[in-house]
Amino acid sequence: MEILDILKEVEHPAKGDRNIVELGMVDQARRDGNKIVVVLAFPRHRDPLAEYLVGSCKAALIRHLGKEVEILVETIVKEEPKPKKAGLNLGTEEVEKIRHIIGVASGKGGVGKSTIAVNLAVALSRLGYKVGLADADVYGPSVPKMTQTEGAAPEAMVEQNAEGEEKEIILPIEKYGVKWMSIGYFASPEQALIWRGPMACNALKQMILQVRWGELDFLLIDMPPGTGDIHISLVHDIPMDGAIIVSTPQDIALADVEKGVNMFLNENVNKPVFGLVENMAWFTPAELPDHKYYIFGKDGGKKMAEKYGLPLLGQIPLIQSIREGADQGEPAALSGEGAGTYYLDLARTLAGQVG
Ligand SMILES: Nc1ncnc2c1ncn2[C@@H]1O[C@H](COP(=O)(O)OP(=O)(O)OP(=O)(O)O)[C@@H](O)[C@H]1O
Ligand SMILES: [Mg+2]
Repeated sequence: MEILDILKEVEHPAKGDRNIVELGMVDQARRDGNKIVVVLAFPRHRDPLAEYLVGSCKAALIRHLGKEVEILVETIVKEEPKPKKAGLNLGTEEVEKIRHIIGVASGKGGVGKSTIAVNLAVALSRLGYKVGLADADVYGPSVPKMTQTEGAAPEAMVEQNAEGEEKEIILPIEKYGVKWMSIGYFASPEQALIWRGPMACNALKQMILQVRWGELDFLLIDMPPGTGDIHISLVHDIPMDGAIIVSTPQDIALADVEKGVNMFLNENVNKPVFGLVENMAWFTPAELPDHKYYIFGKDGGKKMAEKYGLPLLGQIPLIQSIREGADQGEPAALSGEGAGTYYLDLARTLAGQVG
């Protein structure tokens, strides 16, 4: 009796008792003299029925061939080809060589998320890390302006993956030692504004998952303001390690921070928050460098960090040169002095926190 015919007696209990041959699970079945080698393919690792089916194969083979032959039944994992998604082919292989994917979020707009994300990226790169930043603000992208890369046109190419499916790859823009990607390189703000939720969501995921980031220590994601559907879908589909939350010291901003923190800590998402960054923590005028004016209140971020048991990763003062650097596309963190030192400190603390 042929080996395959014997194996047809092995039924899969979870597949309506169809046998493993008809289910296409027998990857190899061969005889070398006195030795029988069977390789079973499972669609996933640690299939709960793997052991049972291996045992059933051995039993069937022994029943027909006797105990004199040596029987070896092995298992391999062969994923079932995924149905091709129309138009989009968003696997995670482009982000697999990234050590840490970290969202920069807040509950409220205008607290300085993008300024922190851009400067933090530059500072991490100055510390010697390989860094990328994806601007996930579809409706108000900031990265092109803050890095003076407006009008840059990322190269795109079509590649075939191992399954023969076509896949579009986008190359990031490199400047200041960082790889940047933003929807702003592709669509004008007026264009993006008419996108409805799902379209914006897909565009965003493409902005991250179709980019050839290569090997990175950190990929920061500048999250759009708010805590809506886009955020949840983003946190769900992008393999983020966790987030940092930005806030200003005002009480109202703090209430929003709670929403931001909850967005990651809730049971459906359950991603760690590495800590808080308090932005505009105080104001120091250029002519009085030793003075600190707590114009938005003192230590609000610190109190919030205590309340949630989260580390306070840094406090960044309100400094004119930070705003100017952002407007001119020359991030303050490019300098190792003055305002730049705050971002370098923040980068060191974050790197230590993430490990
Ligand atoms: N520490 C700072 N000192 C001075 N200006 C700052 C500081 N942080 C941010 N700004 C300025 O505040 C404004 C808002 O910052 P930013 O765009 O980074 O906020 P955001 O949270 O990303 O906003 P949005 O919610 O719209 O995405 C910008 O003009 C920026 O230059
Ligand atoms: Mg922003």
